[in-house]
Amino acid sequence: MGAYQIIGGRPLEGAVHIHGAKNSVLPILAATLAGGGQYTIYNCPEISDVDTALDILHALGCKTERSGARVCVDTSAAENREIPEALMKKMRAAILFLGALLARFGEANLTAPGGCVLGERPIDLHLLGLRLMGAEYEYDCETLRCRAKALRGCTVALPFPSVGATENLMIAALACKGEVTICNAAREPEIGDLIAFLRACGAKIDGTGTSVLHIAGAAALHGTEYAVMPDRMEAATYLAAAAATRGRLVLQYATPAHLQAVISTLERGGCEIVQRPNEMIARCDRLRAVSPIVTAPYDGFPTDAQAPVMAAMATAEGVSVFEETVFSGRMRHVPALRSMGARIYATDRHAVVTGVKRLHGACVEATDLRGGAAMVIAALSAEGESRITKTEHMERGYASFVQTLRSCGAQIECI
Ligand code: EPZ
Repeated sequence: MGAYQIIGGRPLEGAVHIHGAKNSVLPILAATLAGGGQYTIYNCPEISDVDTALDILHALGCKTERSGARVCVDTSAAENREIPEALMKKMRAAILFLGALLARFGEANLTAPGGCVLGERPIDLHLLGLRLMGAEYEYDCETLRCRAKALRGCTVALPFPSVGATENLMIAALACKGEVTICNAAREPEIGDLIAFLRACGAKIDGTGTSVLHIAGAAALHGTEYAVMPDRMEAATYLAAAAATRGRLVLQYATPAHLQAVISTLERGGCEIVQRPNEMIARCDRLRAVSPIVTAPYDGFPTDAQAPVMAAMATAEGVSVFEETVFSGRMRHVPALRSMGARIYATDRHAVVTGVKRLHGACVEATDLRGGAAMVIAALSAEGESRITKTEHMERGYASFVQTLRSCGAQIECI
């Protein structure tokens, strides 16, 4: 079990290299299985979730090779239809191999995925769409056995714009006989990145950036080379860290266009954020509270930025009110922030944050990826020493996290 030791109270100052997006590269790696060919993925972040995705590809009979941010995948020899439970339990994104297995083999044997505990995370919308495409399955909320002799074109109207369901259904649709239309599809930039990757593989998909996607079936897929988009959630995390520590950070290789809701929220709090096409410069004195901050599907305020921004608002001037509308249990970071002196009253879906002048160090345990990042941000802004355990949560989604923070003046080390 990993831990970070942090001595806070210093402003972060310097340049941060934003890596490739975790939530884009994971569906892309799953999608390489659908066609069966050779793929080179550039700007692939060095995080443990990517290691898990490569382990899953190995378990299915694929070859992979990694050299820094470049990953080569050869899925032509894939033959297994079953993903080991231990790998499924490591991350929610393991479920994205369901659509790819059905598209490739017409068969998938998985278990319910693990990953961040954020409240209820069923896969009913994934299964709803696959059933409309002609798949049959037995699922007892733990073991899933899915068969699809012949996937057929259809229209799937998602009751909620689920990111994962949109990705899974788009990948499965590639093998359908006929066109698949997904209504109320997710519109997150990562969906657009997956569409661009699939198009580079020969797929015909229309509707990028809209809620209605049209996927032509029986796609003749081939290998390709592709560079993953920048990680907007990594960028949001460093923006929040700059705000919390009253520092100045240059975020290189970031895409401000993907983060307008977070940028405008922090600007309303008094941050100065200069936006260039592939860079952001954030400078911040003491934040002013912002209310309300309501999470929503894209292009609303992203749920993955809720905890990091709450850590920054913990020392803002005034009262901020957060409402979490996407997940039913995404306030698990609040007790740790309170133990650092934050004044937060929270229910499952709401938090009232009364800013205090300064937080103080504490020993806390990371609860999930973004909640753990929020604790790091709070510890960096606090007076004194903090210890954060279970840092494997953060290693899942932030490449070179400690090294990057140290390069910006943070007193942080892995112990
Ligand atoms: C993706 O998760 C991201 N993960 C999450 O990022 C992100 O928070 C989330 O999208 C929302 O943007 C990856 O891309 C790997 P959803 P996903 O399906 O696909 C409910 C991070 O920190 N739902 O859009 O699981 C679900 O319970 C992670 O990087 C159903 O009810 O999100 C939730 O309340 C955390 N049935 C809501 O929809 C389903 O079948 C949003 O889930 C599917 C989802």
